[in-house]
Amino acid sequence: MASGCPAYNGIEPIRGGQPDAMSYETITVEPIAGALGAVIRGADLSQPLGQQRFAEIHDAFLKHLVIFLEDQELTPDQLLAFARRFGPIVNYPFVQDMDGHPGITEVIKTETDTLNFGGLWHSDTTYLPTPPLGSVLYARELPPRGGDTLFANMYLAYDALSDGMKTMLAPLRAVCTAALRAQGNVNARERLADQTGKSQNRDMLDMEADHPVIRTHPETGRKAIYVSSAHTSHFAGMTRAESAPILHFLFEHMSRPEFTCRYRWKVGALALWDNRCAQHYALNDYQGYRRLMHRVTIEGDTPV
Ligand code: SIN
Repeated sequence: MASGCPAYNGIEPIRGGQPDAMSYETITVEPIAGALGAVIRGADLSQPLGQQRFAEIHDAFLKHLVIFLEDQELTPDQLLAFARRFGPIVNYPFVQDMDGHPGITEVIKTETDTLNFGGLWHSDTTYLPTPPLGSVLYARELPPRGGDTLFANMYLAYDALSDGMKTMLAPLRAVCTAALRAQGNVNARERLADQTGKSQNRDMLDMEADHPVIRTHPETGRKAIYVSSAHTSHFAGMTRAESAPILHFLFEHMSRPEFTCRYRWKVGALALWDNRCAQHYALNDYQGYRRLMHRVTIEGDTPV
């Protein structure tokens, strides 16, 4: 090995990662981990964002995959206005939008709930033919500890595959379904659907779409793994049993700690993640406490 750095248990050390801290003209960007995730300072999202500041935030979003803007005091309309700068808003299929604010989903876990929403690795709603570009999550109420969100960099996960594996995966498509009950997320979603009176949308649990296993990001041109343990059931044209060993390898590989960052929320913090090249995982480690987040989903395109 050229670097002199030994591989541990045969696993190669990770190469690459996100760019260093940098100052733009109107904002500063501080990475929070080696793989992805950066805190942006110098933007008050309650005020209209000028072209320059928006262009810098957008650039940082593409480079760091998930960005965090802290100490924001936002009304629901200001939250929606920020998300709309990145694209049209789409509704989350299973949960009724917040009263009076179409486009905002209340992601809530109460003191008595045991399941949380999004508590497994995923990119959002990939069972749709055009899954979202990204999602915005804004922290309104938090437990005294816990409730962090993990993110993982799917470019790095792709880059770290062997050439043989990349060649094998290149032509494959994977089927994503909204009904992977075994994964547990359907139950948490059904609870939210019941609470918000949208339980009739359980019919939509048979929604399915197939997408490339390796997608090319439409803005950066980089390749990223695009399957997830939450939504991917099998490779198109293969059985679940045939697909399982390779999918299992990919799910383990993609969530290696070296590809991840962990964000500890503060009330008033906002995250924007890129669903095209990052996955996320909401930790469910705050039983007996309440957590309330406002989520806005931004329209995406057809993965290629
Ligand atoms: C989600 O998966 O959208 C929720 C993430 C979180 O609540 O941290």
